[in-house]
Amino acid sequence: MLARFKELARDIQDKARGSIKKTHEEPAPKVVPLRRPAPERSFCDPNGKRPCITVCAPGEGCGCGCEELRQALEEALERSGLEIAVGKAKTGCPGSCAMGPFVGFPQKGFFYVNVDPRDAGLIVEETLRRGKLLFPYLSVNPARSYRQDILYDRTTGMLAAIDEQVCMVEVAKYFLDFEEGLSCGKCVPCRLGIKRMHESLGRIVEGAGTMEDLEQIKVLAHTMIYAAHCQFAMASSRPVLSAVSFFEDEFLAHIQEQQCPAGVCEALVEIQRKKAFRERMAVPKKKKKGK
Ligand code: SF4
Ligand code: FES
Repeated sequence: MLARFKELARDIQDKARGSIKKTHEEPAPKVVPLRRPAPERSFCDPNGKRPCITVCAPGEGCGCGCEELRQALEEALERSGLEIAVGKAKTGCPGSCAMGPFVGFPQKGFFYVNVDPRDAGLIVEETLRRGKLLFPYLSVNPARSYRQDILYDRTTGMLAAIDEQVCMVEVAKYFLDFEEGLSCGKCVPCRLGIKRMHESLGRIVEGAGTMEDLEQIKVLAHTMIYAAHCQFAMASSRPVLSAVSFFEDEFLAHIQEQQCPAGVCEALVEIQRKKAFRERMAVPKKKKKGK
């Protein structure tokens, strides 16, 4: 009996060894040739709809050296041989934002702030050529990064857009879309102010805004800053006030000409499209010669 058990145990061991051996003997898997490395992709498309790089362009009163930076970037780009133009970031800055000069990358959606013009070459070589971020300059503060294409400074009210293709009326509405419904309702300027401003902005982006709407927005924003009980009202009305103060021309274009200069407000784009179509149709057709 014992001999039979030993024989069985030996059989089992042999089988196990055999299976291991078999697995070792399995044919080697086919060598799949490595895929060719992807061709190097440039950081941005020089012919894209949006510029690769922009620099802030504040009005008078700003001494942050944005012109110096723009020039340094243009020179560095020329030296590098990259055919990239330096665009303009829409900038509403009273000259005290302490973020300037800043650089925007519209195709990627981020900003470099407090840029030293002496680093223009570094930005061109490292970021534009090699696609690397320069972290010491990167704007990462969530308090000012409401949206990838906007820079906003709560302390000074500075409001900037990454390029010309951002509509500042839509940006003002965006801030209120955020805040609407969050007022606790204790004080009237905040409870009704946000609601009324939001309605006015809604009419303006739809092409139904009037000069009274613009006036109402200004009055309400000021009232909310000075007459409300807590910081919420001020925080929510300040960006709207910055938008109407620094970019009033865009509000006027929306109201008086039913035009969105950035081409963002769909209703206005549609109005303009129909208007152009009607004008084309109204042009009398030329009579054929000989008739
Ligand atoms: S200002 Fe402050 S207290 Fe007054 S309604 Fe707004 S959130 Fe409430
Ligand atoms: S200080 Fe120049 S952009 Fe703000």
